[in-house]
Amino acid sequence: MPRQLFVTTALPYANGTFHVGHIMEYIQADIWVRFQRMRGHAVDFVCADDTHGAPIMLAAEAAGVTPQQFVQNIGAGRRAYLDGFLLSFDHWHNTDSPENHALARQIYLALRDHPEGSLIDERTIEQFYDPQKGIFLPDRFIKGTCPRCGAQDQYGDNCEQCGAVYAPTDLVAPYSALSGMTPELRRSQHFFFRLSDPRCVTFLEPWTQRLQPEVAHKVQEWFTQRTLPDGTVRTGLDDWDISRDAPYFGIEIPDAPGKYFYVWLDAPIGYLAALQHWLGLRGVNIDAYLANPALEQYHFIGKDIITFHTLFWPALLHCSGRKVPDNVFVHGFLTVNNGQKMSKSRGTGLDPLRYLELGMHPEWLRYYLATKLSARNEDIDFTPADFLARVNSDLVGKYVNIASRVLGFVHKHFGGCLPQAPAQADDALPSAVRTCAEELATLYEQREFGKAMRRVMELADRTNQHFDAAKPWILAREQRSEELGAVCASTLEAFRLLTIYLQPVLPETARKVSELLHIPQMCWADVDATLPAGHKVEPYTHLLQRVQPQQLEALFETPGNVSTKESAKESTQASTKISAHAVAPSTPPSTATATAPTTITTTTMEPPILPGGEAIAPTIRIDDFAKIDLRIARIVDCQRVEGATKLLQLTLDVGEGRMRNVLSGIASAYQPQDLVGKLTVVVANLEPRQMKFGLSEGMVLAASHADKKADPGIYLLEPTSGAQPGMRIR
Ligand code: 2FM
Ligand code: ZN
Repeated sequence: MPRQLFVTTALPYANGTFHVGHIMEYIQADIWVRFQRMRGHAVDFVCADDTHGAPIMLAAEAAGVTPQQFVQNIGAGRRAYLDGFLLSFDHWHNTDSPENHALARQIYLALRDHPEGSLIDERTIEQFYDPQKGIFLPDRFIKGTCPRCGAQDQYGDNCEQCGAVYAPTDLVAPYSALSGMTPELRRSQHFFFRLSDPRCVTFLEPWTQRLQPEVAHKVQEWFTQRTLPDGTVRTGLDDWDISRDAPYFGIEIPDAPGKYFYVWLDAPIGYLAALQHWLGLRGVNIDAYLANPALEQYHFIGKDIITFHTLFWPALLHCSGRKVPDNVFVHGFLTVNNGQKMSKSRGTGLDPLRYLELGMHPEWLRYYLATKLSARNEDIDFTPADFLARVNSDLVGKYVNIASRVLGFVHKHFGGCLPQAPAQADDALPSAVRTCAEELATLYEQREFGKAMRRVMELADRTNQHFDAAKPWILAREQRSEELGAVCASTLEAFRLLTIYLQPVLPETARKVSELLHIPQMCWADVDATLPAGHKVEPYTHLLQRVQPQQLEALFETPGNVSTKESAKESTQASTKISAHAVAPSTPPSTATATAPTTITTTTMEPPILPGGEAIAPTIRIDDFAKIDLRIARIVDCQRVEGATKLLQLTLDVGEGRMRNVLSGIASAYQPQDLVGKLTVVVANLEPRQMKFGLSEGMVLAASHADKKADPGIYLLEPTSGAQPGMRIR
């Protein structure tokens, strides 16, 4: 049965550009949404800019524009990221929209005028007021001396020096961060949502049981007893202050001139406003849409905004008689380089736009994050070396490599027409790959993307092994066309299935594969289809390049090292706020950077004992090494050399479109048939040498003991899986 899903990601504040933490959340949700669509379900996937609040109002003032103009400017910059990272949102809205104003008022009035008694209270509170700016100050705009440790210039809610948590009124010598003035305590009427009301609590306690176990556990504590950071013990839920005084950029509260909804009240309502606008474009009425009892509603969020989404938001909806979310999916923070907090000045910043500008493929990041994402609320770490390895060795080396190998044979030997496949029941490889479809669907459904990627790569390994084991180059040479056709057909079919499994993560590559295979865009049900014999396929064209290490170096380059123009750009970005939900909790300042030149300290040591006591050769410079062109070669054929006991004659494919003949003194260590199909390393620019037994066009590399009596072995070098003929060793 097709499902109807309404999916959102958290609404980003419209006070800065996206950082990679935002992009991670969008990619996580996008993979899930694309998977659901492939399964034939209908998904409405929306997001919006979170536009209201004092910080945005003040930022606009500082920029000399109206808040409306300010948030519009930020909104205009979103497209580059959304398109750039292949994010398939149906609509991107904003919370200052007419829909949001109307919905926020409606929801508030339903709570205020609840037939069983109002869920809104009015109370007088005392708050710091900046007499010069004429505004009540949010906690983060009040600074002063920590009452515990005496550190100066600490924020109004906690001390960064000693970690103390307090109320702004506890600060010694408080001052306004906006004007520097001493703030006055003033009284003001505020509106509260009665979260402590039994109508909220009896609904929320069972509702929160559906959350991820670790999240449900945390939330459960809030219902019973909790110790506040300052040591006070509280029982039950507190009512929630939902109003702010003018001047405020927000939505005015009905019947309360000069009072505005606190930004966190109208922000999640923005989910519905975005949906309403999107549905309106298609002529669908939102009330009818939400009345569908089968509709499922999910929100992807970061772990710093759990309270808002698991208490306030569902309670607001429930108490105003509306549909409540079916679940809230919480993810951890994204850290860079072993948990370091992201910071431009320390060179650990990973700016998403710079990533795209450097020509880095969005699917590299999508795949890399997918390998790390799970259904748990855990932090994940971006490490450049790991990124390079996962993308180059696994994604390109294992998956993409299959297409480049098999399509070459199909074109060379079968004119681009799919050869006859073995009968499906006898064809173990595609059957084995097909059998995993439901397991993978379950992993996607459960947001266990890391497990899904591992499974797909195991299947890619198996597919490569199947192809290698059949030794298609020998089948081709010996013109065993039927066998060659069968292995090509089964390998290509396995590749098509793997493409289906990867499509939620790699939508663009999957589209290119569909073009290569001359088939429409695939859906999950295409697992049960097969390409018929004789089906025409295109010659291989590049599906996905490898990551160049230089690209990662440029991505993490510290501002001091980039060109003037770029460093100007970096410094503006450095001043934009990196909101808490994408960074690790603050770590002690570190001087380590991702790309700082590594200093290798030389210390005096005993000479190392090497096999045979052979000393390390004199130091060379990197340019000396660069003169030697080492390449990966496939041993396509290997024969004994008549009349030469030590030599084997190797036919090598070095990716040049021709074969090389290499004579190598390794006959004592290998049987020719054992080497056929293996990859090794060849010195590709060695001057060709005319030997008694023929021309040798290179030299393969092998290790041996300096003392042959101690160990007569010869050990041919073999790269780890994923390397391809022609790749340079650097
Ligand atoms: O934490 C944040 O970035 C908020 N702007 C998230 C809002 S999510 C939703 F409630 F709108
Ligand atoms: Zn302190």
